[in-house]
Amino acid sequence: MSGFSAEWLALREPADIRARSRAVTGLAASLTAARSGRIIDLGCGSGSLPRDFAPRLPSPRDWLLVDDAQALLDEAARRCRDLPGVATLATLRTDLAADLSFIGERSTALVTASALLDLVSDAWLARLVAACVTARAPLMAMLNVDGRIDIDPPLPDDVPVITCFGAHQRGDKGFGPALGPTAAARAVERFRAAGYGVKTARSDWSLGAEDAVLIGHLLDGWIAAATEIAPADSIRFARWLTLRREQLAAGRLSVRVGHEDLLAMPRREQV
Ligand SMILES: C[S@@+](CC[C@H](N)C(=O)[O-])C[C@H]1O[C@@H](n2cnc3c(N)ncnc32)[C@H](O)[C@@H]1O
Repeated sequence: MSGFSAEWLALREPADIRARSRAVTGLAASLTAARSGRIIDLGCGSGSLPRDFAPRLPSPRDWLLVDDAQALLDEAARRCRDLPGVATLATLRTDLAADLSFIGERSTALVTASALLDLVSDAWLARLVAACVTARAPLMAMLNVDGRIDIDPPLPDDVPVITCFGAHQRGDKGFGPALGPTAAARAVERFRAAGYGVKTARSDWSLGAEDAVLIGHLLDGWIAAATEIAPADSIRFARWLTLRREQLAAGRLSVRVGHEDLLAMPRREQV
């Protein structure tokens, strides 16, 4: 199982909601209105994407939420079942690395994913694109990290920390070597090669004093990942973390984490 906690997903949800591109969700809502079938959210976690997107739909739809973590699926079902924009809600516990067959099982209006594509490999992405093409389904993939991390004020050791973290993001997250920061660009290439039209938009996290807890978790996570990649630099990384935590406590730290959203549409359906 992939090991994302409900606490981490809850912590990031306000930043995710602020960041998701309204141009992309608006286009996806219009496109979905013109299509029959259900909406499938891949790697739904505790349901952040349906909570954000379902109320933007012009009419309620059938939803299928998919994840490999039963506790997250249960929470997602509990919190999303009665949303505007949800006619019926079903959950499916499965390992996405092994199974995408459900996409073609019934008519699919839209496949969605939020903070998922950067975890997957290029080979798995090819399978997802093929499944969407076979089902003639659009894909809305939100919040794909693109490798940009800007910390204000900057420090000289930002570069090694961020470089090592970027290398860690390309490790295996259960789908083979992860695309990490190249995920959105690769998805755009693959969908265009399959004859889809693709719209993209930036969806950066812009984090300041009000996001101190989230920033603290990011700093810890970056250093844990960087230290796994370059253990010989652990003392230098620990010093960086101490300094960054002092700046955070003093309310002097802001962070931008680059993301990209995309909507891939079968050509004749572009809106
Ligand atoms: C970063 S979280 C994003 C969750 C949610 N989409 C959101 O935006 O809050 C990635 C999600 O993908 C799920 N996941 C990761 N690998 C998976 C796999 N192999 N099969 C099914 N779900 C997986 C995790 O359990 C987690 O809920």
